Amino acid sequence: MKWFCLSFILLIGCTSQESVDSKKPVKYHKPATPTLTKSGDISKGKALYVSKACASCHQMDGMGMKGALGADFVNDTIVLSKTDEVLLDSIKNGIMKNGKYMPPQKKILKDQEMIDVLAYIRSAFTKKN
Ligand code: HEC
Repeated sequence: MKWFCLSFILLIGCTSQESVDSKKPVKYHKPATPTLTKSGDISKGKALYVSKACASCHQMDGMGMKGALGADFVNDTIVLSKTDEVLLDSIKNGIMKNGKYMPPQKKILKDQEMIDVLAYIRSAFTKKN
């Protein structure tokens, strides 16, 4: 029984050690090498971000009310680590995540405008470490 208790304690010790480790800050995900947005016009993109209502959900600081309304581009670094192709597809056709929905933007933005706006999002909200 004594040994059983001891190993139990050791076991707990090990598991709690693990949970301490998992509380380390989430590693910053490097953005995928942008291919399409390289050709994007960042200043046009910024104007679109404001005028086409992206900012009403994602907010001017790109944090989407801590992700409550739209994706938090700044802190949820997984989002901008996706490739241009994936992100443009989400913008074009919409995305549903954790019960939050972004409607398709394809009737609102032309293909080139989506590239411009994504170029702006990448330049403004990618964490610079
Ligand atoms: C009605 C609110 C709303 C509007 C308007 C909106 N979005 Fe979103 N957006 C969302 C939500 C919700 C998500 C998914 C949430 C998450 O990833 O946590 C999202 C996700 C995204 C993503 C990440 C997609 C992915 O694959 O992870 C991009 C990029 C994006 N939006 C760009 C835009 C752009 C550009 C506009 C303007 C043309 C726009 N959004 C307008 C709510 C919105």
